[in-house]
Amino acid sequence: MGRITLDKVTKSFGDVNVIPPLDLTINDGEFVVFVGPSGCGKSTLLRLIAGLEDVSSGQIRIDGEDATNLPPAKRKLAMVFQSYALYPHMSVRKNIAFPMKMAGVPEDEQKRRIEGAAKALNLTDYLDRRPGQLSGGQRQRVAIGRAIVREPSAFLFDEPLSNLDAALRVNMRLEISELHNQLKTTMIYVTHDQVEAMTMADKIVVLRAGHIEQVGSPLELYREPRNKFVAGFIGSPKMNFIEGPVAAQQGAHTIGIRPEHITASASDGMWSGIVGVAEHLGSDTFLHIHETGLAETMTVRVNGEFNLRHGDKVFLTPEMDKLHKFDAKGLRI
Ligand SMILES: Nc1ncnc2c1ncn2[C@@H]1O[C@H](COP(=O)(O)OP(=O)(O)OP(=O)(O)O)[C@@H](O)[C@H]1O
Ligand SMILES: [Mg+2]
Repeated sequence: MGRITLDKVTKSFGDVNVIPPLDLTINDGEFVVFVGPSGCGKSTLLRLIAGLEDVSSGQIRIDGEDATNLPPAKRKLAMVFQSYALYPHMSVRKNIAFPMKMAGVPEDEQKRRIEGAAKALNLTDYLDRRPGQLSGGQRQRVAIGRAIVREPSAFLFDEPLSNLDAALRVNMRLEISELHNQLKTTMIYVTHDQVEAMTMADKIVVLRAGHIEQVGSPLELYREPRNKFVAGFIGSPKMNFIEGPVAAQQGAHTIGIRPEHITASASDGMWSGIVGVAEHLGSDTFLHIHETGLAETMTVRVNGEFNLRHGDKVFLTPEMDKLHKFDAKGLRI
């Protein structure tokens, strides 16, 4: 079980309204990612669901029951934070056991759950170590283990990977996705990293100023962003936006075209410009192109071996069926 419904939920801190009325349904077993810029209300929304903050109005239901006024401990949800706050003087085993000890779970049941969690998280060989003897990724896994043994109906993660270095983030991202495949428990995951959102989510909720801009699967948001904000937020490098006559020819105020939907050529194409910085990633190269007369900079993804250099003239051709069109309000046409 782990179906969570928010019905006209609002939150204000004093006079400041942070979440305007918001409706959202999270289905049992779904991996839902809340994504959006800093300060948009992701953590607040998660804390409202967890019961760490009271809603100002509206209703939260968990598995059909009104949980709006339930204290956090009664909601059967487990939260994992960015700072994992383990007890330094306790072994990994004792850290993981701690919430069960508090809840009075019998010893043999504790043992069974610890072994299960350690196996799922590859921590079996580390159970007798202390947190200080672990890497950052292993510590984060212990924090997740402590959540798993509570057998919650949903896991709530608030930017759990942002303390880790880039390589470890990628590993942990895969491990959390794998864990979700194994446990099939509802997970709500907050991040401002759209790559994490795209790679992990069944369903992405894009937030701006406490307001839901769009809800959908990663590819739905990528293919059919509802507005310019979502179009610019989802996808890396960002979508190029073009206004003016070129957009007007398409009957739009603004057209959007992703860097991977433009071909670059040294000899001919629809548009032309001058190569600025070329970012070589090995597999791909991102060209930043100036003097196109379309936008200040156009970003184009080309093959890693592409051999134009800084200052060279380049011709660009968009894939016309991949153009996104927006009206003056930024809404998709
Ligand atoms: N306890 C509080 N009192 C007053 N304002 C708050 C409080 N907590 C959060 N806010 C405000 O609510 C807004 C949303 O904050 P929140 O922490 O939910 O953002 P976020 O999307 O998680 O951002 P980040 O990506 O930086 O973590 C911000 O403008 C923040 O300043
Ligand atoms: Mg936050």
